[in-house]
Amino acid sequence: MVLKKFVALAAGLTLALSLAACGGSGAGSTDTDTGTDTTDGGTTAEGGLIGVAMPTQTSSRWIADGNAVKEGLEAAGYEVDLQFANDDIPTQQQQVDQMITKGAKALIIAAIDGTTLSGQLDAAKAAGIPVVAYDRLIRDSENVDFYVTFDNFKVGVQQATSLLVGLGVMNADGSEGSATGPFNVELFAGSLDDNNAFFFFNGAMSILQPKIDDGTLVIKSGQTTIEQVNILRWQQETAQKRMEDLLTQAYNDGSKVQGVLSPYDGLSRGILTALGNAGYGPTIADGMPIVTGQDAEIESVKLINDDVQFASIFKDTRKLAAQAIVVAQAYLMGAEPEANDTETYDNGVKVVPSYLLESDIVYKDTITSLLVDSGYWTADEVASGLAG
Ligand code: BGC
Repeated sequence: MVLKKFVALAAGLTLALSLAACGGSGAGSTDTDTGTDTTDGGTTAEGGLIGVAMPTQTSSRWIADGNAVKEGLEAAGYEVDLQFANDDIPTQQQQVDQMITKGAKALIIAAIDGTTLSGQLDAAKAAGIPVVAYDRLIRDSENVDFYVTFDNFKVGVQQATSLLVGLGVMNADGSEGSATGPFNVELFAGSLDDNNAFFFFNGAMSILQPKIDDGTLVIKSGQTTIEQVNILRWQQETAQKRMEDLLTQAYNDGSKVQGVLSPYDGLSRGILTALGNAGYGPTIADGMPIVTGQDAEIESVKLINDDVQFASIFKDTRKLAAQAIVVAQAYLMGAEPEANDTETYDNGVKVVPSYLLESDIVYKDTITSLLVDSGYWTADEVASGLAG
């Protein structure tokens, strides 16, 4: 029965947050008062401090996550210590240490490096503080209680699908397209210290490998393993540099790259800059390769709208935030949160009970239905590429 209650709470909270979003608190909002009562059916939050640790503010995705978690928790009657760590591991460790010292009742953590928080998690455990891993799995620790995220393998499948759709090898409805290639494609993956990078890459390769094997796709650089194609800390500049190097090394014979698997919008922008500097584009119609992405960051949504980037993956940070809040509240009320996956996410020590959300592919013609109609970005933000 406890579970039912929290499922109902989750539904109520998600609704409340999405209603708040429709009222102007979309992804780019910094408005901290949603004015929404997120308690449900007599379930009253007791209040107290909750620590929320996010990796960086250099990506609009994490700012949206941080704001959504903070707004939702405050609306539910909690105080929030929200920290961003500038992608620096010692900074994040220190921030989490301080949250514990300040008496946080629960921790919601999106790790920079999923393997470096064991000391902090031991201290949290000793203090009886539940730990929720937010979007990125915290590895190598017994003391992570729950994981809220998206179906990360499927995100990779969607990224590869969008690449094939852009090349015309597949249609958006999943049927076979008319193009047969061969197409020159290059692959990028995320940061190896982020467990998600492996799920995205493996998901993508489950679709792309058969097309490489049958000759539809050609990886001219020969770099096909995650060890060869990863980008440390998901840095845009590093991706730009790698794309420049690939062009010099593998495309100096007059051949052209026609598609790039990119797992994150920030990397995609670096890749597009390298391609643009080398004379590709400016738009897909002018020969810019099909470049994929992830997160529906506003700068990239504009590029999709302008026919420069081909696609992204929309992971609704409002829903993820709402789920994290439901889980934290469940622990604070002495209940077990509802998991919908208890098999996939082995952190090296144990399988962490997880709640996975669904994602969607954003193409130019789904920007309005997915992002504008849901209040995630406004039409003006899409046009300007600027949040708020
Ligand atoms: C997240 C992605 C994001 C990436 C870079 C991953 O852990 O799941 O949504 O693109 O980090 O910030």
